[in-house]
Amino acid sequence: ADLAGFIRGLPKAELHLHIEGSLEPEQMFEFARRNRVDLSYKSVEEIRAAYEFSRLQDFLDIYYAGAQVLLTEADFRDLALAYFRRAHADGVVHAEIFFDPQTHTDRGVPFATVADGLLAGMAAAERDFGMTSKLILCFLRHLDEDAAFATLKDAEPYLDRIEAVGLDSSEVGHPPSKFARVFAAAAAQGLKRVAHAGEEGPPAYVHEALDLLQVDRIDHGNRALEDPALVERLVASNMTLTVCPLSNHKLCVTPDLRAHPLKRMLALGLRATVNSDDPAYFGGYVGANYTALIEPIGLTRDDVLTLARNSFTGSFLPQDAIDKHL
Ligand code: ADE
Ligand code: ZN
Repeated sequence: ADLAGFIRGLPKAELHLHIEGSLEPEQMFEFARRNRVDLSYKSVEEIRAAYEFSRLQDFLDIYYAGAQVLLTEADFRDLALAYFRRAHADGVVHAEIFFDPQTHTDRGVPFATVADGLLAGMAAAERDFGMTSKLILCFLRHLDEDAAFATLKDAEPYLDRIEAVGLDSSEVGHPPSKFARVFAAAAAQGLKRVAHAGEEGPPAYVHEALDLLQVDRIDHGNRALEDPALVERLVASNMTLTVCPLSNHKLCVTPDLRAHPLKRMLALGLRATVNSDDPAYFGGYVGANYTALIEPIGLTRDDVLTLARNSFTGSFLPQDAIDKHL
């Protein structure tokens, strides 16, 4: 009867979440105060009012500015734990979280401060909420290949605690090919690979992510639907797409949610999942990303069951752990 209640109660995994994108305005003020960082905003209301985006870059500019308040290991731990608390309330039992080390190392925050803080938050979430999680290191694609290699080097002491590398930030003009070598190096070190592709960029970028980065998942992938041969390839390879409905809406990838492709993706046999991307900026955590589609595209209980199943089969959990969740 109550689909929103059913969604909340159903165990789910989240596979596309930028931890810096879970920084709520209230927390931004708190961290700015305790770290004595100057914020250009005067109030939480003023921050929220600035969250009007017409494309990805509008959001990224504000997102990188917001992250400047994060300085200490405690900040990263508190940020992660606050995310896990909200995700837990939405029925998320496993999360694979992205972090953008370059956003922090480029302003003098050591890689270890970021990683140790996030890992402490992940350990606390397991202890307090029984949630499991994995860490995915994302390279910023607007920066160059050398910077990505330097970041992979920074990560070396942590490679046993990092599951995968990813690729995010400004997509158009920064194709996956730019990072083919660093992804190959990451693969050689035993890391899995994911990449944002086909959010604003063309289907050719999705092909490149598959061919040149050898990705295990595609983040977003919306524009793959423009290329029937690509769709066929994604279906045949059981490729997981980490779709983010409220992000798509707020960044005008899908200005009208009635045109959201999620249901079409499922009908085509694509392994689509529902995720929150940057929940503090886009208006909701995983639960809200499911419920936002109920009315606009007629998401059903069966669709929700499929999506939750896909979230586990598409995860990097070992097969026996996946089986336990299905
Ligand atoms: N960084 C954080 N969120 C992102 C998104 N949706 N696309 C690209 N880069 C991002
Ligand atoms: Zn993203």
